Amino acid sequence: MTAPTVRIETLSEHEGTEVLLEGWLSGKRSGGKVVFLQVRDGSGVCQCVVEASRPTPFAAAQEVSLESSLRLSGLVRKDNRAEGGFEILIDRIEVIHTAAEYPISRKAHGIDFLMSKRHLWLRSRRTSAILRIRHTLIKTCRDFFDERGFVLIDTPIMTAGAGEDTQSLFPVDYFGRRAFLTQTGQLHVESACMAFGRVYCFGPTFRAEKSKTRRHLAEFWMIEPEIAFAGLDDVIELAEELVRCLVEGVLSRHSDDLRLLDRNIAALRKAVDKPFARITYSEAVERLRSSETRERFEARLDGERRLLQSMIDELAELEKQLPAIRKARQQEKLRNRIQELRDRIRELDRDLADRPAHLASAQSFEWGGDLGGSDETILCEQFETPVFVTDYPARVKAFYMKRHPEDSRLVRNVDLLAPEGYGEIVGGIQREDDLDVLTSAMLAKGLDPADYEWYLDLRRYGSVPHGGFGLGIERTLSWICGLKHVRETIPFPRTISRLEP
Ligand code: 4AD
Repeated sequence: MTAPTVRIETLSEHEGTEVLLEGWLSGKRSGGKVVFLQVRDGSGVCQCVVEASRPTPFAAAQEVSLESSLRLSGLVRKDNRAEGGFEILIDRIEVIHTAAEYPISRKAHGIDFLMSKRHLWLRSRRTSAILRIRHTLIKTCRDFFDERGFVLIDTPIMTAGAGEDTQSLFPVDYFGRRAFLTQTGQLHVESACMAFGRVYCFGPTFRAEKSKTRRHLAEFWMIEPEIAFAGLDDVIELAEELVRCLVEGVLSRHSDDLRLLDRNIAALRKAVDKPFARITYSEAVERLRSSETRERFEARLDGERRLLQSMIDELAELEKQLPAIRKARQQEKLRNRIQELRDRIRELDRDLADRPAHLASAQSFEWGGDLGGSDETILCEQFETPVFVTDYPARVKAFYMKRHPEDSRLVRNVDLLAPEGYGEIVGGIQREDDLDVLTSAMLAKGLDPADYEWYLDLRRYGSVPHGGFGLGIERTLSWICGLKHVRETIPFPRTISRLEP
């Protein structure tokens, strides 16, 4: 009888039996009469032990190059020193393909190099951890809405007009007519909402902003629920429930992945322990301009400057030690740490250089403007939980937002800012349901109501108060994983400077 093919995640169920493993060589270490192969199959990494007493597999193990694809068979045994607590004592190795010299090594590479090799970098532990969490995040979103009776509606990717603003549209040639990649599924999902009451869409969305910030992608994924007979408070309640459910889902299923990413798990847990904070836009402006904000900001900046100095000191010390190290393994370890420190110092130094300008702009913020990325960072650093900011000025927001009943300068919208400096992850709105007000808002924004006849029909035939929100998968994931940049949260990021691989 041939041994069964197993996945590494199930290895513990096969203790004491012969198994077959198919995977790629992700690491190798030799110890005289034994070679340890680290084999990855997508579900985990397994230590495969090849002893010199078995000459054929031993010779193959010594020769085989990193990332070669392998089929191995052997006996599963318990070993507490092995990752996962089990290893395989190998008696046969079949090399399916011998890999050419792999361009990604253990040494610390710069992010631009790794992004240019993204098709290979997907195999790394770090990227795998992030993308596994992404999978859970999306599944949890779908389950969340399915369990609450929402109907999934697939909205079009090619559209005739703007769904948000006219500056960030990607044009496409549509049989000789000008069309655009969708910025949001919202307008179409609103029509489905009038058919089903509770709906959501989930798909890729596109924004052509020429922005280089750590929060912007040109192509990102958004989940957008829409509910009928609902006001802004219902939208806020739904968003809070969803975000709490997403964080709890990741915390309960991915503690190992979060640890691998060095995520501060306590801070993440704290973020969803209490009800989320709520402030209005006007309160946010007061906060930005306050002396308390300046004092907090400066204290934080001092702390980060001290951290920078301690990293610079550690770097100098390690560089001094390096020439005296003789063992190759230790040298490699030290070089990696030095490279890592240099990267972090460069990053923090650049970050700190920009900060005083952020504070100056926050302190002189004028009521009426839109909150920028750095304003959001300063605000959300003041809360342990995510914070809802409501009721922005109409002139900085899209045409479809409901006018505030008590102050016509404002609209009934909400942005949810994630803590720890991450900023906006959700944008929500009660929609304008009055035909005349909506038509005038379109004209005021330079849009031709004739282009939106079908959308205006929703206000002609049984209009109801309704609203919804868009949650950006990548920004939410970036916060949950504690990443520096949103580009690592999507398998193949599209940014102003990257269309490949
Ligand atoms: O606030 P936004 O632009 O809202 C809308 O598109 C609404 N039509 C949604 C709705 O009401 N159905 O975007 C919603 C979310 C943001 O909070 C953010 O998480 C994400 O989408 N997002 C981006 N993510 C990455 N890169 C970009 N360029 C993004 N722009 C928005």
